[in-house]
Amino acid sequence: MTSAERQTALDAIAAEVRACTKCRLAATRTQAVPGEGSADTEVVFVGEGPGFHEDRQGRPFVGRAGDLLVKLLGSIEWRREDVFITNVVKCRPPDNRDPEPDEVAACAPYLQRQIETLDPALVVTLGRHSMARFVPGARISQVHGTTQRVDPATGARDATVLAMYHPAAALRTPAIERESYDDIGRAPRALLDARERRAPSPARRAEAVETVEAVAVSDLEVIAAAAGDVTETASADLTIF
Ligand code: URA
Ligand code: SF4
Repeated sequence: MTSAERQTALDAIAAEVRACTKCRLAATRTQAVPGEGSADTEVVFVGEGPGFHEDRQGRPFVGRAGDLLVKLLGSIEWRREDVFITNVVKCRPPDNRDPEPDEVAACAPYLQRQIETLDPALVVTLGRHSMARFVPGARISQVHGTTQRVDPATGARDATVLAMYHPAAALRTPAIERESYDDIGRAPRALLDARERRAPSPARRAEAVETVEAVAVSDLEVIAAAAGDVTETASADLTIF
């Protein structure tokens, strides 16, 4: 798929989500929150569901948890507009209660189609409910900060998942906040490893070197060397795209 085709597909999914009435959350939402970000990204962040501010604005992670997510991203020099951010359920559960299994099941096709469209190399799960979609049966206290291969049944053709605590949990508990910085610190390496495993075409590598903002100089050298174009880029930032 070209970038324009991916954008068109994401827009079509978003339009369906905004009009969706497939579960009871439609009755209590202000606006559905399809998700947002780059149609060209290799990285998808998946939260649990919209909260108060997200429901009002129709955008994911725009409240305090979103502020922390942006800070976590900043700690590895990533920006929210360079990734795609969405949720397991696209409508706010009343009083921010946990989504019910039938609501998660009703909403799952939207997330699956977003993931199929983006074909990410890395999926970062934020919290238990998101983790449960990608690493079934795991305990967040055990797997946060670790990576696994994603089951293609999720829509991810060949992706690595990095599990993290939910930013709202990090806001409540300083120890979890500290661990969250450690956990997201593993994302650049996980992305580079996933890129290598996925063996992208030389054209895609060259594109990566041109546009990318980086991760670490040693990683940059690996990518630049692979693209056969070390000179201009070795000291530049590498953008994820
Ligand atoms: N919490 C979530 O899980 N998702 C959001 O979009 C905002 C807060
Ligand atoms: Fe539709 Fe998902 Fe919203 Fe339920 S939560 S109404 S399935 S978009």
